[in-house]
Amino acid sequence: MAITVLPAIRLFKLSTAHTHYSFRVNDLDEVEHISYGPEVDDVASLVQVENPGRLVAFAPQPEECDNDSISSKDILSQEFSGFNTGDYRVPALIVQAADGTRATDPRFVSYRIYAGTPLLSELPCAYAGKCEGVETLELKLQDSVTGVSSYLSYTVFPECDVIVRGVRIVNEGASTVDLSRVMSLQLDLRSGSYDMVRLAGAWARERHMERSAVHHGVQSISSTRGMSSHMMNPAFALTDRHATEDSGDAYGFILAYSGNFLGEVELDQMESTRVVLGINPALFSWKLESGEAFEAPQAFMTYSREGLGGMSRQFHDFFRQHWLPERWALAERPILINNWEATYFDFTTEKLLNIARTAAALGVEMLVLDDGWFGKRPDDFSGLGDWTVNTAKLGNMAELARGINALGMKFGLWFEPEMISQDSDLYRAHPDWAISIPGRSRSLGRHQMILDFGRPEVVDCIFRQMKKLLDEVNIEYIKWDCNRHMTENYSAVLPAERQGEAAHRFVLGTYRLYRMLLAEFPNLLIEGCSGGGGRFDAGILRYSPQIWCSDNSDAGERVDIQLGTSLFYPASTMGAHVSACPNHQTGRVTRFETRGHIAMSGTFGYELDLAKLNDEERAMVSCQTAQYHRLNPILASGDFYRLNELDDNDALDGWCVVAKDRQKGFVTIYRRNVIANFRGSRFKLKGLDEHAIYRLDDPYRSGELIVSGGALMTQGFWFELPPGDNASRLIEFSVVS
Ligand code: GLA
Repeated sequence: MAITVLPAIRLFKLSTAHTHYSFRVNDLDEVEHISYGPEVDDVASLVQVENPGRLVAFAPQPEECDNDSISSKDILSQEFSGFNTGDYRVPALIVQAADGTRATDPRFVSYRIYAGTPLLSELPCAYAGKCEGVETLELKLQDSVTGVSSYLSYTVFPECDVIVRGVRIVNEGASTVDLSRVMSLQLDLRSGSYDMVRLAGAWARERHMERSAVHHGVQSISSTRGMSSHMMNPAFALTDRHATEDSGDAYGFILAYSGNFLGEVELDQMESTRVVLGINPALFSWKLESGEAFEAPQAFMTYSREGLGGMSRQFHDFFRQHWLPERWALAERPILINNWEATYFDFTTEKLLNIARTAAALGVEMLVLDDGWFGKRPDDFSGLGDWTVNTAKLGNMAELARGINALGMKFGLWFEPEMISQDSDLYRAHPDWAISIPGRSRSLGRHQMILDFGRPEVVDCIFRQMKKLLDEVNIEYIKWDCNRHMTENYSAVLPAERQGEAAHRFVLGTYRLYRMLLAEFPNLLIEGCSGGGGRFDAGILRYSPQIWCSDNSDAGERVDIQLGTSLFYPASTMGAHVSACPNHQTGRVTRFETRGHIAMSGTFGYELDLAKLNDEERAMVSCQTAQYHRLNPILASGDFYRLNELDDNDALDGWCVVAKDRQKGFVTIYRRNVIANFRGSRFKLKGLDEHAIYRLDDPYRSGELIVSGGALMTQGFWFELPPGDNASRLIEFSVVS
C-alpha cells in the first residue's frame, strides 16, 4: 500500500520503495508535516520525537490556545500554509476576500484515497503507465470564513520514489475572491542545514549547476519572462552539507510549468527549512467566482540518501515511466540533420536535397528544415504568423518531403507558433492579437511580438494553419521554437480586474495547442526550443519528449550544460548535435570525434553542412550514426551517473550510462585543458554489477581490457586521451558472456 492512514491519531503516511512522507492533522485541524526521508516502519514514533518542546516563536497563536505558545503557526511544520494568520514565513496560499482582507487559514476537512493519478483539464499531468500501485491521496482543507477550499493531491509513484503534488482551489463560499498566490508544493523540513543546488545560466550558457549553503531568510529561483527561461530552471535540490554525487540526503523539486515560476527556500528562526514552488505571484492573480475552481500546475518531489546522483536517477525514471509522451518515452528518436547552421535563411530546394542525399548515405534519418520556409521571411524581421509555404523559395513542400522520403529519410519542419511579426499578414489582419498594453510603448524581441494565446480564437487560427500543412505534407517532426520572452503582459479580451490572469492563460493556450496537434497527429515528434534552452522544463516535456538544449553547440560548453540538465532531466530529453567548426557561438576548434562523443549523450543529430566535411570526417559520421544506434537504447532507459569528482583540478568531466540489467553501457570522458606530464587519469565507473566480468572496447589500448565490475568501480582504470585541449573518449563496455 502506497498510502496508509492511522485514523486514531489522524496520521497519513505515503510510502515509496525507499522513502516515506508523513503528516498528521492536529487538534486545531491544521495539517502538520511530520517527516520526509528514508522508509521507517513506525511513523507514530516520529510524531513523539518531533514534539518541539518549549520554543518561543514570539508570534501570536490561535485564540483557542492563548496560553500555549508552542501552538503558534509560525513554528508549525505545515503542509499548506495560509497567510496573515500567524505564520510569517513564505506562504503557500494567499486569498483576497470580497471585503479586501487577505487573511487565509486552510484547515483540514476530509480526505479520500483513490487508485491512479488525478486528471488535470488544462495542465500537463502524470500518468500511472505500466506501473502498478500508483495511488493518490486527496486532502480537503478549507478557510472557514471565505469558504475557499484547497484540494491537495499527493500521487505516490512507489517504484521510482517520486511523489507528485497538486493543488486545486475551489471557491465554495458565496462571494467572489481573488487568488494572489497558489503554490503547488510546500515542504517544511525540520532541519536547517542544507545546501541549495539550482540550475542558473543565460542564453547559450543554460543550466549550470550552482550550489550554496541555505542561510537565514529566503533564497529563491524565479522567472517573470512568461517562459521558464535560460536564466533559472524551475527545479532545484536541497542536500545535506556533505552530500556528494553518491551519498548523503538529497531532496529534489521540479515544477511542471513553462511560465513564470517561483521557488523559495526559507531558513526560519527555529532552524527549520520551508520549501515552496509554484506559479510566480509577481504576475499572477486569479478571480474565482462562487463555485469556480483553479488548478495549479503539478510539482514533483523525491528524496534519495544516495546523494545528487540517486536523486537524478529517480527523476529520470519518473520522466520516462510517468511523464514523457508515452509514444516516445522509451522509443528511439531519429538521428537528424538540421539545416540552420548549414544555411541559415539562405537555402533552396536543391540545397536541402543535397544535404539530405549526403546525410542519408551516412546513416542520418531525418532532415529538419529550420526557419525561413514560410510567408515572407528572408531574414528574422518578418513573416511569423503566416504559416504557409513560401513557394517562390521552395516550390511545392509536399514534393520536397517526398524527395526526402525517397532517400529513406523523414522530413521535419520548424515553427514558432506563439510568435507574430509586425510585418505579416496575420498582424495586418489582427493587430490586437499581438500582446501589448494600450497606451504604452511595446518591446520587441528579435524584432517580433507574442500572440495572445490566452484567446482561444488565436490558438485555433494557428492550429488551423499548422494542421493544413501537416495534412498536405508528410511532416513527422516539428521543432517548436519560441524566440522571445514576454513583456507588457496584457490581454485585450480580459477586464481590468482579470489582467493578472493573462500570463497563466497564455501558458494554458500553449499547452492547448500542443494537445490539439497531438490529438490530430498522435505520431508527431515535437522537439521544444526557445532560443536554444530557454524553455527546458517538465511542462514542455509532457508533450515534447526532447528539447533543443542550447544554441551553444560547442562540445566543451555542452558538457556543462548537459551535465547540469541531467540533474533533473533524462539524457534522452536533451537535443544535442554535432555542429560546424570553428564553433559558431564560441569560435573554438574541437575535434570532430569529440563533438560526436558529447552529442551522443543526448538525442543525436547534426547541424552543419555535411558537404564541407573531409573524407575522414564523413567516415566518422557513418561510424557515429552506427554507434548511436547501439548507445541509444541504453541512453533511453539506462541509469546515468555523473563522474564529476574525477579529478581535483577540474580538467576532466565524465559520465557513464549503464543499462538497467547492468549488462552493458558506455562512459564518456572529456578533458578541457591538457596538463603536461599528466599520466592520464584513473577513473572509477559506477552502477556496474560488481561480480560480472566486463569487456571494455577501448581503441586506444593495445589488447582487450577484461575486468570485473568490482575492480572498475573500486579501483577504476587508467585511460589515455588524445593530445591537446578539448579531448575526449567514449568507451563502450559489456558483460562477457
Ligand atoms: C532559435 C533556435 C535555433 C534556430 C533559430 C531559427 O535561435 O534556437 O536553433 O532554430 O531560432 O531562427
